[in-house]
Amino acid sequence: MAETTNVTEAPAPPAAKTAPAKPAAPAKATAKGGKDRRGFLYVMFCTWFGIAWTAFTATMIGMTLGTIRFLYPNVLSEPPSKFKVGPPDQYEPEKVVERFKPQGAWIVRHKDDDLGGDIIYALSTTCTHLGCTPNWWDKEQKFKCPCHGSGFKITGVNFEGPAPRPLERWAIGIADDGQIIVDKSKKFQKELGQWSDPESFIKA
Ligand code: FES
Repeated sequence: MAETTNVTEAPAPPAAKTAPAKPAAPAKATAKGGKDRRGFLYVMFCTWFGIAWTAFTATMIGMTLGTIRFLYPNVLSEPPSKFKVGPPDQYEPEKVVERFKPQGAWIVRHKDDDLGGDIIYALSTTCTHLGCTPNWWDKEQKFKCPCHGSGFKITGVNFEGPAPRPLERWAIGIADDGQIIVDKSKKFQKELGQWSDPESFIKA
């Protein structure tokens, strides 16, 4: 009879303790968020509905901004209608001062026999043809419009080109501090006989 050996199996070593696995939920959530975002962007930019909706939204924003601009016009960004241009004695005879052209005025000192000597006036820089801004040509002593060639004398009177009438003059006076003040809220037109108005010039 065969000898039987009583072999007992050694007990299995205890399983190594491992740290508990972290829940994977946040990763899933991030992936889901990314999917959602991609889906949203796809719908908004790659489908007719999305394109139409984006265009509609842009149009509505543009209309809203336009309405706000209409309700609150450029009151603050426009230059003031009144501004000072220094004392009268800084203006030389037969000279056009271009320093205030950005504000829409040339300051001119010129001899006017009808008014009894030198006067100072503020000429508008707007051409009376179609509204371009002429340039002062000192050598030729004239204003020349670059758009259609109208020419104006130092007085502002038109003498060549299509401009139908002289340049306009702004109201001018002396402020409390002795400086010349120009007021663009009032204008004077030669063809209406307004250049003899005492507000349209000062005596130099
Ligand atoms: S706008 Fe000045 S000549 Fe036409």
